[in-house]
Amino acid sequence: MAGHLVLVGLMGAGKTSVGERCAHMLGRGFVDTDDLVEATAHLSVAEIFDTLGEAQFRQLERAAVADVAASPEPLVIACGGGVVLDPDNRRALRNAGVVIWLQASPAELGERVAHQEARDGAARPLLRDGAVGTLERLALVRAPAYEAAAHEVVDTAGRSIDAVTDAVLAAYRALDAERA
Ligand code: S3P
Repeated sequence: MAGHLVLVGLMGAGKTSVGERCAHMLGRGFVDTDDLVEATAHLSVAEIFDTLGEAQFRQLERAAVADVAASPEPLVIACGGGVVLDPDNRRALRNAGVVIWLQASPAELGERVAHQEARDGAARPLLRDGAVGTLERLALVRAPAYEAAAHEVVDTAGRSIDAVTDAVLAAYRALDAERA
């Protein structure tokens, strides 16, 4: 049976936009782990960080990942940027599907995040102290976790959302066929 298509990567990598398009192309449901956490807590991600703290956010996130990975229906899953830090999350996602790491330079991620925040308001508590500097640090610190989580890397540098979607779907189809 087909496995989930799981997207991981830093904030601004395009997991949600690309994930939504992949879900549309595959005729599948789309789930974003941040949305699940927000629905469970009845609070936004920023409010959870501010009122309950990051540790509590990570716990809610772990429960959301376990739930969605266990779905019998194959889904497209966009993971919050920090999901890969937890070894149980990595294991659950790798076992339940194909994990693809959307990569981009910190400068490019910073531009996308700034663009999104200008449109939707500031939603990323970890980037309040300066996006590009933080993204550079997170890129270094988290690279081993993304590597350990992912079956495949897709470089998003200078590519449109449609081009990235095509590359992700091609990688997913090839790897999901191998899993079967
Ligand atoms: C986080 C990424 C965010 C969200 C939270 C923490 C992270 O998700 O889960 O703000 O630790 O990288 P996106 O990657 O979808 O922005």
